Amino acid sequence: MDRPLLNRRLASLGTTIFAEMSELAVATKSVNLGQGFPDADGPAEIAEAAANAIRSGRGNQYPPGAGIPELRRAIADHQRRFYGLEIDPGSEVLVTAGATEAIAAALLALVEPGDEVIAFEPYYDSYAACIAMAGGIRVPITLRAPAFRPDIDELRAAITDRTRVILLNSPHNPTGSVFTGAELAAIADLACSRDLVVISDEVYEHMVFTGEHVPICTFPGMRDRTATISSAAKTFSYTGWKIGWVTGSPEMVTAVRTVKQFLTFVSGGPFQYAIAQALTLPDDYYRSIAADLVVKRDLMCDGLAAVGFDVFRPDGTYFITTDIRPFGDVTGLDFCRRLPGAVGVVAIPMQVFYDDPEAGQFQVRFAFCKRKEVLTEALARLAGLQPG
Ligand SMILES: Cc1ncc(COP(=O)(O)O)c(C=O)c1O
Repeated sequence: MDRPLLNRRLASLGTTIFAEMSELAVATKSVNLGQGFPDADGPAEIAEAAANAIRSGRGNQYPPGAGIPELRRAIADHQRRFYGLEIDPGSEVLVTAGATEAIAAALLALVEPGDEVIAFEPYYDSYAACIAMAGGIRVPITLRAPAFRPDIDELRAAITDRTRVILLNSPHNPTGSVFTGAELAAIADLACSRDLVVISDEVYEHMVFTGEHVPICTFPGMRDRTATISSAAKTFSYTGWKIGWVTGSPEMVTAVRTVKQFLTFVSGGPFQYAIAQALTLPDDYYRSIAADLVVKRDLMCDGLAAVGFDVFRPDGTYFITTDIRPFGDVTGLDFCRRLPGAVGVVAIPMQVFYDDPEAGQFQVRFAFCKRKEVLTEALARLAGLQPG
């Protein structure tokens, strides 16, 4: 494949929208509810642990390729504590440069050129790019408003002899949909009966307000065909540290590790020590993540509805999808380009995350992982919008 062709395939609007909106936010001094990162750091003792690791010379040189043993053990313990999974930290855990590298390395490891990869759109923006980098063909299954449920019949019909991977993301960014046990069981059945691999991006595993998060690898027949991905970024509010991980069978982890070795080799040595400590935080800490966020979700959902948006209340994650049609005949892209200048708020147009040009045309995403006073200020500004 020649380079320009590959680059054209990567250069979708989704790859540039965050930069465009972040620049607009700065230029207009807007409240930025675009990109999904918190405006407050995670637990102070975890930052202190990272600083201590640097000062004491732990992790300042290349850590082991699979990640430091302390972190791999802590990840295995986390999977046992929350999901009852027994995982061998020696052969079934790989530490990566964030979930982003885990997704890229898994796709590059498991997809051959021409293989089809089924993913639920709207997509997290790295999915389409990484499938393209692997030479795969993405096959979208659209999650449709208002409930954003996966249509299992559509999924069944989309599987062909070329299908290799189902790329799953629950809790789902950007819709906030949390797949139910029945939906996951149906997806697992299809993966087993059609001999597919599942790459399961579970970075929002601790941000569920309604229902519960169940890793798809816990379903019968799934343990050896699933690469489960998560990250410290969301759970501990240290998005800049880029500590993620993959768990799966030794064969799966070895395959992903072989690619990872030539992407970054290793990363984040001192942060690995800090996240090993973070993962041992008590259950109360984990409970507080969703408990804090649900208050913000309700503040924002109620506030956005009062301003005039049609709001789809999310069951998980820290994103809210809205429909902007009450504000007149304007696409989400145009709406988001005008919003900073009009009222001083930045949001993300969801149409850039769909292959189906119709599906997300009027949807706009707001992130609510911000301090309460910031959300209140954003709502006060949005009150200046005129419903059309
Ligand atoms: C669904 C999803 N997967 C992966 C990531 C990336 O995680 P990390 O920062 O650990 O690379 C994000 C971050 O926004 C995300 O929303």
